[in-house]
Amino acid sequence: MSHPLPAILGGPPIRPSGPPDWPGSNPQVTAALGKALADGSWGKYHGPHVGRLTEILATAHECEFVSLCASGTSAVELALRGLGVGANDEVVLAAYDFKANFQNVLTVGATPVLVDIRPDNWNMDESQLVAAVGPRTKAILVSHLHGGVVAMPEVLRIARERNIAVLEDTAQMPGALIHGKLAGTWGDVSILSFGGSKLVTAGRGGAVITSSPQIAQRIKLYTQRGNEAYPLSEMQAAALVPQWADLSVANAKRTASAIWLCDQLKQVAGLTPFQNPLSDSQPGYYKLGLQYDPVAFDGLTRNKFAIAIRAEGIAIDPGFRALHTTHASRRFRAIGELPIATQADERVLTLHHPILLGTHDDLREILSAIEKIRRHARRIQDTVTDECNP
Ligand SMILES: Cc1ncc(COP(=O)(O)O)c(C=O)c1O
Repeated sequence: MSHPLPAILGGPPIRPSGPPDWPGSNPQVTAALGKALADGSWGKYHGPHVGRLTEILATAHECEFVSLCASGTSAVELALRGLGVGANDEVVLAAYDFKANFQNVLTVGATPVLVDIRPDNWNMDESQLVAAVGPRTKAILVSHLHGGVVAMPEVLRIARERNIAVLEDTAQMPGALIHGKLAGTWGDVSILSFGGSKLVTAGRGGAVITSSPQIAQRIKLYTQRGNEAYPLSEMQAAALVPQWADLSVANAKRTASAIWLCDQLKQVAGLTPFQNPLSDSQPGYYKLGLQYDPVAFDGLTRNKFAIAIRAEGIAIDPGFRALHTTHASRRFRAIGELPIATQADERVLTLHHPILLGTHDDLREILSAIEKIRRHARRIQDTVTDECNP
């Protein structure tokens, strides 16, 4: 039987129209923005939407203070400032994490301390924390990444025993549950992102969440300069309110798709989804993380696999660069050799979330694209010269 060539070698792509667009059309958002246009609130400094979104997020997270801001990146900076992190302090984070988290620690004058990640879900390895914390540790910055969640009870136990604060980064999974408790409610301070690719999006935007009056007051002092220094606009808030209302339904749909796909991937050599060993937990799926093994693809490199599957119209991309591989060693302190994070640097692939709101046929196309690439892996490896630049 003859099989069509992969798109990267000139064959027809599996999804000629490419990955589903994001954000998709949402009548509630259209209506909310239409109303904000009609009543003029879209262009005002002060209107009802920022206040309404603040209330909704505070209620959802059962917290006292929500500070809306310009991005998830600025939210992490503000959270660090709220914790009083500064010069001579250390902040512990996973060596595989979003680059801006590392940069934010430097921005406030502190030193990042990098710990390795777990072999099963390539999220922070909580068993590394005891070796990482010391007299200068001010905070542990925990990100839940790519459909994996971090063992928050253990992180909190270690932090509480030593009087260290926990900053929980929930940018990738608003509405996720960890041991039945909402992600973003574990940390002393937590953040959300409303960036353009995120599950709840205003193109840009973020939020800091805390119940500590001291943290909230420090953030207020930093951001209020007679004018707001890090604002989220009324128009952004108007678009976000209806999306938050839809989040749990959309999360349930994404989770059902992720479970089905991960089950199918058990039969697929060389692509292992991030595991979630925690009981009673429902991760969010901004990205579905996959551990790629080039041996199962005839030596095809991870980056070339990503180029080939993108050409099929499937939004699978290389993950983050590991932080210790891209920053000068004088910038951070590392706990051990970080072997798993080094592996993640070379082997993470992430499936972008919009297809998880599609049908089983959409998901089957992912599996077909993988097998098409596997059949031609050697030729793709020899032909494609361009490496991705993640
Ligand atoms: C884990 C994590 N934290 C923080 C951010 C920053 O969010 P933003 O893009 O809104 O600045 C991101 C963005 O992708 C992220 O993945």
